[in-house]
Amino acid sequence: MPVSPILERLRAETREAHEAIERDLAWETRVTTRGGYRALLVRFWGLHVVLEPALADAVRDPAFFDPRRRLGHLAADLRVLGLDEAAIDALPRAVSMPLPSDRHQAFGVLYVLEGSTLGGQVIAKRIGRQLGLSPEDGCRYYAAHGRETGPMWKAFRQRLAEEALAGDSDTIVAAATRTFDAMRHWLCAAPETSLGGEGRGRIAKVSDRG
Ligand code: HEM
Repeated sequence: MPVSPILERLRAETREAHEAIERDLAWETRVTTRGGYRALLVRFWGLHVVLEPALADAVRDPAFFDPRRRLGHLAADLRVLGLDEAAIDALPRAVSMPLPSDRHQAFGVLYVLEGSTLGGQVIAKRIGRQLGLSPEDGCRYYAAHGRETGPMWKAFRQRLAEEALAGDSDTIVAAATRTFDAMRHWLCAAPETSLGGEGRGRIAKVSDRG
């Protein structure tokens, strides 16, 4: 499949941001313990809970967008790790996250979220080995589209190229860059600050044994 001009631009213009998030996320250290892994998922939940409704509104295509939702996966994993519904609902939300207000911005945000399912495959395997969790049992979020990851990414790239042809590539690239930076800020916040402050909730105390 040839690489579309928009994908080339996105790759080039977000390369540094990807490297920064890959470096600062410290996922290898975090997933060595259940508690570290759970804290990471909590941060992702705070992101998806604010982004997904805004994306659905901006994309206005449930057949395309709904299979890409992952908030439910995060909630399922967090339940396995010991949180109940009330505790999940009270988790901190990334209220300072820039939200997409039109389709082009939405495709920039989706590039970042859908792209993260690619690296997620590597991370899911590590979590399986390290913590003994499977996609059905605690590692649904990272497993993401599973065997469908390749086809889902291909379909996304196709749609992204069409959207860019019909509109404004600068807007898509700007939204992707902004999203990478805001995500890094939210996900890589020091653990102390990540447990309070922003958002509306607090992390409920849960047993470390999950
Ligand atoms: C939340 C954090 C992350 C986000 C938002 C993110 C985002 C992305 C995006 C947008 C792409 C698509 C690049 C493209 O083909 O245009 C991608 C690909 C990829 N990412 Fe990440 N990523 C993240 C973390 C990581 C981490 C921690 C790793 C390390 C395991 C990683 C490894 C990869 C790999 C292996 C690819 C596939 C590259 C390829 O097939 O060409 N990512 N990621």
